[in-house]
Order: sequence, then C-alpha cells, then structure tokens
Amino acid sequence: MFDSIKLRSRGSLVVLLLGPACTSDPAGAELDDEASESGESGESGSESGGGSESDTSSGSELDSCNYTSPFTNGAECREYIGAAWTEPDVTADCTQVSGELGLGEPCSIADVLGRCVVDGGTDWQIDYVIYGTDPASCSAQEFGCETFAGGTWKPTPTCEGASGDGDGDGGSVFIQPTLNCVDPLPNEPIGQSEGGQVCTWQAIAASTEEGRYYPDYASCDVIYTQRPYYAAPPAVAPVEPDPRLDDPSYVAELEWVTSQVEASACVCCHSEVAPKGTSNWYIEAPNNWMNSFYDTGLALGANWIDSTAFGAFAPEDNNGFDRIHSGIPSTDPDRMVQFFRDELSYRGKSEADFVDSTPFGGPLYTQMIYEPTACENGEGVGFDGSLIWTGGPARYVYVLAAGSGNPTVPPNLDLPAGTIWRIDVPTEGTPVASGEVDFGTTPAGLSQRFPVAGAPAALVAGQQYYLYVSKDVGVPITRCLFTYG
Ligand code: HEC
Repeated sequence: MFDSIKLRSRGSLVVLLLGPACTSDPAGAELDDEASESGESGESGSESGGGSESDTSSGSELDSCNYTSPFTNGAECREYIGAAWTEPDVTADCTQVSGELGLGEPCSIADVLGRCVVDGGTDWQIDYVIYGTDPASCSAQEFGCETFAGGTWKPTPTCEGASGDGDGDGGSVFIQPTLNCVDPLPNEPIGQSEGGQVCTWQAIAASTEEGRYYPDYASCDVIYTQRPYYAAPPAVAPVEPDPRLDDPSYVAELEWVTSQVEASACVCCHSEVAPKGTSNWYIEAPNNWMNSFYDTGLALGANWIDSTAFGAFAPEDNNGFDRIHSGIPSTDPDRMVQFFRDELSYRGKSEADFVDSTPFGGPLYTQMIYEPTACENGEGVGFDGSLIWTGGPARYVYVLAAGSGNPTVPPNLDLPAGTIWRIDVPTEGTPVASGEVDFGTTPAGLSQRFPVAGAPAALVAGQQYYLYVSKDVGVPITRCLFTYG
C-alpha cells in the first residue's frame, strides 16, 4: 500500500512503507525547503563532524544523539549542526527518540552507510548518520533521506554506487493530492466527468476509471513523493507453473484483479512502470503474479490485516473504487476481498493466522494511535497568540481540541474532527519557523486549510488544546497538549 514512509519523528528518519513489513509507511514526506536544498548540495556538509560554515561559533562543540531508528531498528546518530540548535532543543529532540545524548561529542564515524543532511546550510541543519555495513540497504536509505526527510544523501564508499541515484525520486516534499481532469485517450470511451473528461486523484489511494490505466491519467511522479518508493524483491515463487492457470474461471478472476490494480495508483510501484524496479509484488511477475506476494501482502487484500492508516477516498470521489472495504482498491470490494482470501486458503492460511498482526502503516499507524503528552519548553499558543514549537521549521501547523485524533495522511486522515485551525506551506514554499506564526493569522505564502474561510474559533483561557506541527506529512516535530492562557 502505501506504505512506507519514512518518517522521522522530528528527526528520525524513518521509512514508511505501506507494508507492515516494511516498517513504516510512507506518508511522510518531509520537506525540505528549496533553499536548504540548494544550500546543502552546494556545501556538502561536513563530514565528520565539523560544524557547517554557518556554525563557526560553536566550532567543534557539536552535539549528537545516538538512538535506534524505530522504523528500521538500525543504529543512527544525529548531529545538530545548525547554529540555532540550543541545548534544550537538542535535549528535547534526543529525548523524543529515547536516544543517548552526547553534548559536545560528534557522532562516531565507524561503519557509516551514509549521512542524510537535512536543512543543510540553514541554522537548523541536522545530519543523520546512518550506520550499517550492508549495501543492500543503501537505496532505501537514500530514498528515505531524499523523499521523506527532504535531505541530501551523502553515501560513504559502502553505499557509493550501490544506489540508483536520484532520479525518479521526484521532489522531496510530499505533494498534496490534486484532481487531474483530462480528455480520454483517443481510442478509449468517453469519460464520466463533465465534458466527457476523466478525472483522477493523484494520490496513492486513488484510482482512475475502471478499465483505464492509472499512469495514463495521473502522474506517478507525484505518487513517488507520497511514500517511499524503492525496488524490493518479490516473494520466492514456486518454479512449477501454477496449475490454477489451467482453470478459465480462475484466470478470468485474476484478469479482473489485474485490471483493477492497473486502474489504481498502486501500479506506479507494483508494476514494471516503476523506474528503478518493482516493489515486492508486481503485476507482470512470471507465472502467476499472485505468487509475488508474501502472505502478509495477501492478508492486506483479504482485509485480514488492517490498512486503514494508508488512507482512503470515498468511493464516489474515486471513480467508484473503494479502499475502505478492500485493502486493494476495487469497484467490487467483496469480490476483491474474496479473491485474496481464496489465495490465502490455497496457501493453507486462514484469518486466524493474522489475528495478532500489527496493522499496516508502520509510522503512519504508530502516529495514528499516538497519545500526546504535555507541552514542554514553552511549546503552545501564548496568550499573545504566538505559536511556539520545537524541532525546526514546519510545513503543517494544527491547533486542535484536546482529545482530537492525530493528523496523518490525506485524503481522509489529515483533518481530524476537533481541528480548530490548520495552515499549510505549499509544496514550493519555504517552511515556517516557530515564532513566525500567530494563532489565527495565516503568514504570507501559506494557506489556511481549516476553517475553509474566516477566522478559527477563539481559544478559551484555561482550556487544553493539542498543538500538532509537522515537518511534512507524516513527520511530526511537535505533538503536545497545552493550556491556553
Ligand atoms: C510509491 C510506491 C508505492 C505505491 C504507490 C504503492 N506501494 Fe505498496 N509497496 C511499496 C514498497 C516499496 C513495498 C515493499 C515494502 C517492503 O517490503 O520493504 C510495498 C509493499 C506492499 C505490500 C506488501 C506488504 C507486505 O508486508 O507483504 C502490499 C500489500 C502493498 N504494497 C499494497 C499496495 C497497494 C494496495 C497500493 C495502492 C493502493 C500500493 N501498495 C501502492 C511501494 C508502493
């Protein structure tokens, strides 16, 4: 599914994948501002620890944080390079990942796969040093860094050349879904939207009209910003021809499933259209492509492992395709789910085999069930209206009623009931810093997403509220409860 994202919770890079297996989900892309990007690529960061040029005053007094990535379970270390990082910021950041703080100590440089430089060249530069020795993990780390952390990946020799290089990684900022309306291809039937057009959301959970091919009607490059895309091997399939392919009714059903997937954004990664190789299961896999799924993947299709965290459109807003009642988007969810249940039965599996499975979504799932705690370090909305958060510049800022759910991915999980105010930085915009926003006043260049028009409801003194600030979709940097006034 959508899967993997890489998130960093304020920092930690994570990879989110749709799949459970993956550990994470995608969603989050992070952001990076263009300024920082160009800055970083120009300066290429300081490799072992030195402060960047913007940080000469701290000289070698670099602070670091060693921790285990909750997404990859691998060792990582953050170096707080930018001049704006104060000791309380660093301490708060490190506590958030249960890390071991190293004040005045740079990260170790032994067994490094690469360094992910985020907000390079700015006062908030932070470098993630990724440890390991296995070149097979390089491309996922690179992808996660660039797409979800919005960083610049600087491989060590272990990773040099191991990764595909940045091509189709698209932008590093999560591009919000947009509806793309175009005339049908010349040899295809008239479209179902106004003027005979075909309208398709550019989002991982989206589908074009039944019988059409998603990449003909929407951009997979947009999709690649919405979760990590990388090549992943298929499940090991039996060598023998699948005997079910001799059964015409099975084959007809398989063809229907294939065409439903072809109409959905899933094909962007789960077919040979994917620019750097297919992601686990793919529709051209030899013999019977169903065999390219792991059992867990089939269980997503069977609705035996929940995948709500990846998000879904209302079918009426998605060309009739339903991903609420079927993990694989379908115009006939019951039929789709049954097909996947039958696949698992064929493998000798039943619902009972998955009852203890963690829902899909990785970080997106974890974020969905997160319980915010009290704000610290002055975070919250001051009585003068100023919004204060920690973790660096942000693309999304929310003030919600206490007890609201956690915002995660569009289209249906990014505006929880209880949202009082939400502002977004557009894809090309520069992230906004703590202290630059006053409650209810949308800074120039940003857009107010909630309320749709007019001022937000006034905050009431003595009431508790939830401040949620993210570096990008799926990359929260401050999530805490404050009392106004
Ligand atoms: C941007 C790329 C991308 C898109 C789009 C995408 N996926 Fe995936 N998906 C992946 C990757 C990468 C993996 C492999 C994760 C891994 O195993 O590391 C994956 C794995 C999976 C798995 C296997 C999970 C498991 O644990 O066995 C399922 C099922 C899945 N995706 C379903 C979907 C569905 C359904 C859609 C469309 C609604 C979709 N994906 C869209 C990239 C994508």
